[in-house]
Amino acid sequence: MNSENVVLSGMRSTGRIHLGNYFGAVKNWVELQDRYRCYYFIADWHALTTDYADPSDIGGNSLEMLADLLASGLDPERSVIFVQSLVPEHAELHLLLSMITPLGWLERVPTYKEQIKELANRDLSTYGFLGYPVLQTADILLYRAHFVPVGEDQASHLELSREIGRRFNSYFGDIFPEPKALFTPTPKVPGLDGRKMSKSYGNTINLSDTAEEVTAKCKEMFTDPQRIRRTDAGHPETCNLFQFHRLFSAPDLQEKVAAECRRAQIGCVDDKQLIADQINTFLEPIRARREELLESRDTLLDILSEGSAKAAERAAETMDQVRSALSIHYRKAGEKAR
Ligand code: TRP
Repeated sequence: MNSENVVLSGMRSTGRIHLGNYFGAVKNWVELQDRYRCYYFIADWHALTTDYADPSDIGGNSLEMLADLLASGLDPERSVIFVQSLVPEHAELHLLLSMITPLGWLERVPTYKEQIKELANRDLSTYGFLGYPVLQTADILLYRAHFVPVGEDQASHLELSREIGRRFNSYFGDIFPEPKALFTPTPKVPGLDGRKMSKSYGNTINLSDTAEEVTAKCKEMFTDPQRIRRTDAGHPETCNLFQFHRLFSAPDLQEKVAAECRRAQIGCVDDKQLIADQINTFLEPIRARREELLESRDTLLDILSEGSAKAAERAAETMDQVRSALSIHYRKAGEKAR
């Protein structure tokens, strides 16, 4: 690694990592480790913005998420892997940025109204939920990050982060580089029902699912709606099931299945078993590694506390610059920063 550029990204610990998260984010995070100074974190405070009424799973989810991330190839030797709440400077910067963020900017974020509608069973008319993207901006600016690898659904948050950073710099001096989004070059991963794979739709396959669970879920997958009888010809290009071959099967298997499906030589039920086998082959090593990691909770906690201490070093540098820029620091003349 020879780049001084900082990459930062995070994921909310609201549940298990699923294939949509893996292909939409984590795989890319793993690949970036050799090229940049990478900071990856578990956004446990962000989980509270929607799960505040019952936070009892958030801490446990964070440890499971760490196991998922490590099993997927994030490496604490090469990247700084940490948890948001163990670096309280996130909260300090969030507070300061909230002072300069116009309400209109927040109300205009498309995900704000969408999420309120989508999660209608919860009361999201809170200060914290409106401020979600300000906290996200603090997460990014705290590490003076240059690149933020995220899914396209995060584009509007990133745009807002750039605007808040620019506003800060224009008031108080150039502290923050412009964080650029690094969108993941993978196609969207469909869920079992053909909609985007998402925890809120209950259509996910998780890295932690057992082989039996994966097989059972594959059996539920939606297939080509135009193929009603076994003898009807299928349309792999539009079939939800076939998207999974694109992600998991070798090119020659993809071709074989597509050809057989078009000629009604393979049925959807057989194909589902084939997909389950492919997904299980892919997940097997990840599953084994995550089981092993979860056997030692203390080791996971050590990894988090070491990573968080490293993150805190860069965060402290930034906050020192920020406090000086605001002229709210209480140092004697000539006295060094902490
Ligand atoms: N909002 C992001 C998501 O839902 C998670 C997140 C929180 C994040 N803070 C971040 C992503 C900072 C990138 C950078 O996926």
